[in-house]
Amino acid sequence: MLKNLLCAVLTVGLLAACGEPEDTRPGQPVKTRQLAFKEFIRQFEPMGKMLRDNRYDAARFLTFAEALDAAKEAPWTHFGPDTQYPPSKSTDAVWQKPDAFAKERDAFLAATGKLLEAARSKDKAQVDAPYKAVYDTCQSCHRQFRQR
Ligand code: HEC
Repeated sequence: MLKNLLCAVLTVGLLAACGEPEDTRPGQPVKTRQLAFKEFIRQFEPMGKMLRDNRYDAARFLTFAEALDAAKEAPWTHFGPDTQYPPSKSTDAVWQKPDAFAKERDAFLAATGKLLEAARSKDKAQVDAPYKAVYDTCQSCHRQFRQR
């Protein structure tokens, strides 16, 4: 009971403690791509917080934008054939609509590059919109390709 309640409120990072199956396949493709996405959020979230709290720190923001840009290619090669098994949170559409998935991925890659460019300007007025644009690409892909 308490455990269920806790699991309901805990973030994705702790779900492993709530009966998530382990990825035991060689190379752990599902676990590897999930860790790669976690790295996205680790870099992306602090940027959003800075903007929301009106505490834009240009140098720190740039560090996060660089780290996100450096991490942006990591998940995609781990969506190989036959890698849709627990604990995957992908939808079957990833494999059924590879072109649509690639399109979402490419939009994210482009938006991330633009955010980095904007961050180099060190001007808050120039980073707000590109930040939001990256956010929209995360959401847009998740809508179709990640289970809720
Ligand atoms: C092109 C599609 C796509 C884009 C773009 C995308 N994601 Fe995801 N994301 C996925 C899919 C698919 C999964 C589920 C992976 C799995 O479990 O197999 C996922 C999972 C995640 C997870 C959960 C990882 C876990 O441990 O279960 C987080 C967090 C996440 N994404 C954050 C982000 C953020 C932040 C962005 C943008 C900066 C982003 N994603 C962009 C498709 C995408």
